[in-house]
Amino acid sequence: MTTRRRFTLTQYLIEQRRRFPSASGDFNALLLDVALACKAIARTVAFGDLGSMLGQPAPDVTTSVNVQGEEQKKLDVISNEYFTQMTEWGGHLAGMASEEMDHPYQIPATMQRGKYMLVFDPLDGSSNIDVNVTVGSIFSVLRAPQDVIDSGRDVVEADFLQPGTEQLAAGYALYGPTTMLVLTVGNGVAGFTLDPNLGQFMLTHPNMQIPEDTHEFAINASNSRFWEAPVKRYVDECLAGKTGARGKDFNMRWIASMVAEAHRILMRGGIFMYPRDTKDAAKHGRLRLLYEANPVGMIIEQAGGRASTGREPMLTVQPTALHQRIGLVFGSKNEVERIERYHREPGAYKDDANPLFAERSLFRD
Ligand code: AHG
Ligand code: MN
Ligand code: MN
Repeated sequence: MTTRRRFTLTQYLIEQRRRFPSASGDFNALLLDVALACKAIARTVAFGDLGSMLGQPAPDVTTSVNVQGEEQKKLDVISNEYFTQMTEWGGHLAGMASEEMDHPYQIPATMQRGKYMLVFDPLDGSSNIDVNVTVGSIFSVLRAPQDVIDSGRDVVEADFLQPGTEQLAAGYALYGPTTMLVLTVGNGVAGFTLDPNLGQFMLTHPNMQIPEDTHEFAINASNSRFWEAPVKRYVDECLAGKTGARGKDFNMRWIASMVAEAHRILMRGGIFMYPRDTKDAAKHGRLRLLYEANPVGMIIEQAGGRASTGREPMLTVQPTALHQRIGLVFGSKNEVERIERYHREPGAYKDDANPLFAERSLFRD
């Protein structure tokens, strides 16, 4: 048997750095620290109930509800700690922000501060932990504002409010049947599979590309009564299949781990929607802009797909708050563009007045 020569994540990053001969190596070192945190989370997840890490935190843990009013699981908290502890000491970060921390995280005074900021969702899809379904971590790297770099001052919320176009790198780890790391440093998307024998991420998917067309969509249909008309129209047309306006049958998937849906779409195309809806007037969508929509958006676009709010490209949105929620549509380019078009076509807004929704909608009572 001949062994196949594969690149490690480290080798891939060195290759990428060759494009910038003056680069210091800090950026790569940071990404390797993030990869280490992901490996630690992968091991913890893999031990499942054997590691007593499932379920809710013990009653003496005071932080069992995060800033968004969501229940934190033990693994949410532990994964957050892996991220902070494995990346804070390297001297590459000016600060961090996470779904699980109300406020920006400061690099301790005893450690060196650097020029990057790390933003992350340490565990995405955490409702799936207890049922042994794929979960993951999502992260984004931003450059700290120049005055933060110059002064070494504490980071504040406003420092993180940068549009997705400013991201220097984005990635996710997937804790499924295999552990994977999928990464963009702004030059396409590469996928790595964790070799459990070596403990190394090996380059297995060098240039991930999303097909422009698809017949697979993902949306939580239990929210259909709250959807806006353009989304109803799109889904109705998918459901109508061959005999409807689209003239082809569609298939539907819903994992409830956005990171796992993003991976499926990177592998074989598809569309994912958690659109803005009318469920809760105080929330413009379910998913978070800075550590869910933007990093996934950058990866999807680097792979030739498209990410949008439905109304505008996701990566150009100017954030207004650290934990801001937003409507998210991403995946195969032609489908995302179609949904954007439906949002622009005034006729599609008439909902009840529009016979498409009033009579033919499969989601009507
Ligand atoms: P998180 O576990 O980080 O809070 O995110 C869960 C998100 C996302 O991964 C998933 O697509 C969505 O919530 C699931 O929403 P529903 O509960 O509406 O299915
Ligand atoms: Mn999440
Ligand atoms: Mn999470």
